[in-house]
Amino acid sequence: MTDWRKGRSLGLVYDVLTAVLAGFGVVGAAMSFRAGGLWMSVGMLFALGVGLIVWGVFIEPQRLIVRRYREPLMLEPKTWVRLVFVSDMHAGPFRNRRWFERVSLEVASLGADLVVFGGDFVSDHAEAVEQVVSLGRVHGRLGTFFVLGNHDYQDDPVSIRTTVAGWGIADLTNGHISVQKDGRTLQISGMDDCWYGTPASPPTRVSATLPHISIAHEPDIALDVKEGDTDLIITGHTHGGQIRLPFLGALAGIPSLLGRRVDRGRKVVNGVPLIVSEGLGEADVRARLFCPPEVTVVDIGI
Ligand SMILES: [Fe+2]
Repeated sequence: MTDWRKGRSLGLVYDVLTAVLAGFGVVGAAMSFRAGGLWMSVGMLFALGVGLIVWGVFIEPQRLIVRRYREPLMLEPKTWVRLVFVSDMHAGPFRNRRWFERVSLEVASLGADLVVFGGDFVSDHAEAVEQVVSLGRVHGRLGTFFVLGNHDYQDDPVSIRTTVAGWGIADLTNGHISVQKDGRTLQISGMDDCWYGTPASPPTRVSATLPHISIAHEPDIALDVKEGDTDLIITGHTHGGQIRLPFLGALAGIPSLLGRRVDRGRKVVNGVPLIVSEGLGEADVRARLFCPPEVTVVDIGI
């Protein structure tokens, strides 16, 4: 039995403890309601807290949303390239093959010209990448690419890179390609992880007049890119903060030098548009709250 499967048992313990906590919460809240007065208020707060924990651990991580962006890179686009960005899978004890099969069906239904994986295939155990194999069978009409993320580097980047490439997905780390659609050309650069890798910055741009996008794991890559180096950057890494509250946003800090400014969504850094996907998985805390797993669709006008 490999380490990550032992970790799956840990996930089961996590589930049982949360269920016990929820049980205590329900009983405690019921007793407080019966007592009335101040205790009723305490009971309501307690019940709300337990409800949020149960939602964040059991329900939100099983949701799946598709977030869409439309980015014209030319004044008068002649065609649109649909890029489906799948990031932060975090295969391991908190996930299983069935989850990724569900994600694969969703991705396959999106009509992708390009499918791009933004790294963090695993959380801590390279062997767990096998959970993601069904996603490896979903390909874009014009190509399927990947870069690695910080968690992949923290474990075994060589084996993860070999496994994913074996699925027929091209490694775009510090690489550059051009794709054509309806007579128009889109240049794409992949950037290495900027925490543990050696990103070639600025990205290779063969032509300044043809539209160009850059793919990276961390949004921090935007700090090394200036206007004109690229027309659009797409990254993952932040998980949208993973645990969020309405009006307050992410409860914990965002692991980026750019901080909360790049927690999720479309931003502009150094004059370059940046799209940050909330990604699919969890790291450190086995929960997502008001931040459901996301597959990101970017329609790029060229
Ligand atoms: Fe991640």
